Amino acid sequence: MELPVIELEPFLKWRIAQSCKSELPTSFQCNFCNGHLENGDVGKEDGGLDESDSLLRESCARVAACLRETGALVIRDPRCSTDDNDRFLDMLERYFGQTSDLKRKEERPELHYQIMPENARPVMPTGPDRKWRYMWRIGPRPAETRFQELNANPVIPEGFPEWVDVMDGWGHKMIAAVEVVAEMAALGFGLSRTAFTSLMKQGPHLLAPTGSDLSKYADLGNVFAGYHYDLNFLTIHGRSRFPGLFIWLKDGRKVPVRVPEGCLLLQVGKQLEWLTGGECAAGMHEVVSDGTMKAVEASKKAGRSLWRVSSTMFAHIASDAILKPLGHFVDAPASTNYCPIYAGEYVEVELSAINLKNSKR
Ligand SMILES: [Fe+2]
Repeated sequence: MELPVIELEPFLKWRIAQSCKSELPTSFQCNFCNGHLENGDVGKEDGGLDESDSLLRESCARVAACLRETGALVIRDPRCSTDDNDRFLDMLERYFGQTSDLKRKEERPELHYQIMPENARPVMPTGPDRKWRYMWRIGPRPAETRFQELNANPVIPEGFPEWVDVMDGWGHKMIAAVEVVAEMAALGFGLSRTAFTSLMKQGPHLLAPTGSDLSKYADLGNVFAGYHYDLNFLTIHGRSRFPGLFIWLKDGRKVPVRVPEGCLLLQVGKQLEWLTGGECAAGMHEVVSDGTMKAVEASKKAGRSLWRVSSTMFAHIASDAILKPLGHFVDAPASTNYCPIYAGEYVEVELSAINLKNSKR
């Protein structure tokens, strides 16, 4: 399914003209504004669109509508180039392509959230997911928090001198894209521009690439990520080199997602559902080997890696912020299902429920 592509450029230009302040850890050389972006550099805390900004209002409304109706969104952010995505995918293909023994040396079984092969997780009833996952923190964590465990230190694999640079470089660009989408969505929903982003400050944002070995698991029916929703606020992915992602629309249809070159895909997570009183539901999705054989054959011929890397990033609401329906969403029909809860507590409850935290290994 081709979701419509929302161009972020006009809103970004408006943001620069308004000197809007960034709340999130955006720190990178920006090819769009020809400068080095630092969060909190300059600018206003809040401020919305004028009546005269009808085109921008319309694109904010489209962002909100798409998230509400499909649980997903495809965007083009001129700051996130195909080259950046390729640099990230190239490094991760090399990382996942190492032997299992080498990768396992760096596992941290005490942290359910760090390097861990998914085949150790009792998540899906149909069998283990065929993927490896690595987690890298993006942005600062709070000095004091009730939820320390979510904020563990990262592992840097041996033999990758460029690791920090590439992970932070791509991660900061992805979170910058999420920030703009979150602002546009807030305006589109009739909330203040920073209604969501002000709650994301120092959140446990995680760049969490997954790798699936298509030299072993390309045939039909292999599950790389079983049917699930995401428990964070918004998930963003760069374009993968192999197909496989399917989403469920609000009307129950299951559709394959195709992300055009140079675009990014976002998916609604449970925390956004909470903040909108259920109006914007977390999208169910799965990643399976369906239609991957052709892409695998092409990669084989070209001598390219057969690891399917997904450059997934989970953007979170800050652990110590309260999740509850915002503004007019208090009056949403299902809002009473979303009682106030610390975001960190909600995540812990979810992880316990799916038995990640206490799984025996
Ligand atoms: Fe997911």
